[in-house]
Parts: sequence; structure tokens; C-alpha cells
Amino acid sequence: MVPGIDLAGTVVASDDPRFRPGEQVLATGYDLGVSHWGGFAEQARVSADWLVKPPAGLSLREAMALGTAGFTAALSIVALEHHGLGRGDGPVLVLGASGGVGSVAVAILAARGFEVHAATGKPEEAPMLRELGATEVLTREETSAEPGRPLESERWAACVDPVGGAALAFALRSIRYGGAVASSGLTGGTDLHTTIFPFILRGVSVLGIDSVQTPMATRRAVWERLAGDLRSPALDHLTREITLDEVDAHLDDVLAGRGRGRTVVRVGG
Ligand SMILES: NC(=O)c1ccc[n+]([C@@H]2O[C@H](COP(=O)([O-])OP(=O)(O)OC[C@H]3O[C@@H](n4cnc5c(N)ncnc54)[C@H](OP(=O)(O)O)[C@@H]3O)[C@@H](O)[C@H]2O)c1
Repeated sequence: MVPGIDLAGTVVASDDPRFRPGEQVLATGYDLGVSHWGGFAEQARVSADWLVKPPAGLSLREAMALGTAGFTAALSIVALEHHGLGRGDGPVLVLGASGGVGSVAVAILAARGFEVHAATGKPEEAPMLRELGATEVLTREETSAEPGRPLESERWAACVDPVGGAALAFALRSIRYGGAVASSGLTGGTDLHTTIFPFILRGVSVLGIDSVQTPMATRRAVWERLAGDLRSPALDHLTREITLDEVDAHLDDVLAGRGRGRTVVRVGG
């Protein structure tokens, strides 16, 4: 199996009339790198149904700097806004804020004028998170703490949660009346220990976020927005570039919890 959940490049050959040689395309999710060879290769053969033409104004490098993580951050923000989140509603909590989904979410929310509070397990990343636009930085100890009671003070209007586990339970206990948590990830665990009180006493909602099977119409619309009103000028700041040979060592860092922001893998020369 060739891993790599994202890829972008130029069409070399196509059996499908929707795509012609020379056109730029990107793909994220579906079976890429899971049950179909993925993006860590110089060439890939994929279903035309998985391909998106990058929107005007978004380079392939920018698209991969966003990748599945940035796309998921955007899906989360779109879902929260669709739920009714507005700038005047109060601060938005972003969990796992130094990671891919988290850092892009901080950058997009701040660029859209939201007050952003970022939670991280890496105190050394606090300056980076403030540069992205977070006005408060919380520790992972606080946001993963065992519950003292079923509900805590109402602090945030909404939460972007790529962490899950105890952090999702914490968010549910402390979201303001009528708010929502966009739940996309599980770096903090798959179990959820909560009570029903956030739901029945505060009308809190959990919005499930899936980037892998997102229908193509939504996919195109969200990529358009990532090139438009969801564009963040800070994206370059949180992205670094490595070669294919450096992927192994980089993944060791990610598994050891030392991941930071986004990493673009340059597969060609
Ligand atoms: N639903 C979807 O479609 C979708 C799409 C993309 C990703 N995901 C999932 O979302 C999660 C995050 O993805 P990502 O691309 O952002 O990964 P990532 O770049 O590796 O970032 C994960 C971040 O989670 C935090 N973290 C790590 N271990 C933790 C722990 N034990 N407890 C709490 N937080 C921890 C860390 O941030 P801090 O040090 O700053 O706390 C880390 O940087 C993954 O579980 C991934 O599978 C789901």
C-alpha cells in the first residue's frame, strides 16, 4: 500500500471526458492511502469521481497545505456557522490547536473575525497559536480534565474538536446555551463519557464531521470557499515542506506527538 490521503498534480492521461491532460487536479479522502494507493508517489491512478479542479486563485501547493486537515477545519466551521454561530456569540474553542485540523481552524476563524481560544498539549506552540490569531491559549490538562460535575461554567459559543475523548466531554460541559461542537477526530481517544445534561439543559449540539465521503457538490463548494472567504493569510506560516525521503522520519515525529501545523510532501523534482 502506498499511503497518503491527499494528492494534487497535473493530469497525464485520462479516460474520462471531464479531465484532460495538462489540467490541474486535487483529491482528498475516499479510499486514498487506505484501500487504494495514495499520494506518496510521483504518479497516481485514481477514479475521476474523486477529483476536484482547484478553484481559481488556489495553487496546488496551497491546496495540499490545506489538504484533508484544512478541508476538515473548513467543514467544521461551515457546519458551526450553518448551525447559527455568529461573530458576536462569544469565543470559539479549538482543541488540538497545534495539529493540522486545529491550526487551520484557528487561522480561518481568526481571519473571519471570531475570538479564538486554542487548547494545546504543547506550551511551546503558544506563540505560534497567538500569531495565527488565538487570543487565549489553554493547556491540554485543563481541556482533558476529569469532570468534577456534569456541567461547568458556560464559556464558549462553539468548539472545533479534532481530539475527542475527554476533551470532547469537556467541551460539552462548558459550551454556552444553544452552542455546538463540530467533532471530527480522535487523537485524545474514541470513548465519550458524558451526561445528557448539556443536551437537555443547554440545548448543546454535536455536529459530526466527515471529510472522507463528503459529497462532491459540497466538496467543490467548500474548496471554492477555501480559496475565497475562508482563505487564511496565515496558511504559509504553519506549513513546511519535506521530500518523499523525509516522510518516514516525519511520521515518527507525528506519532510521538511532535506534529505541528501542516507538512507538504514534494514528491517530484
Ligand atoms: N473526520 C474527518 O473527516 C477527519 C479529517 C481529518 C482528520 N481527522 C482526525 O482528526 C484528528 C486530527 O487530525 P490532524 O490532521 O489535525 O492530526 P495532527 O496534525 O496529527 O494533529 C493532532 C493534534 O491532536 C493533539 N493531540 C495529540 N495527542 C493528543 C492526546 N493524547 N490528547 C489530546 N490531544 C492530542 C495534538 O495537538 P496539541 O498538542 O496542540 O494538543 C496534535 O498536534 C485525527 O484523529 C484524524 O484522524 C478526521
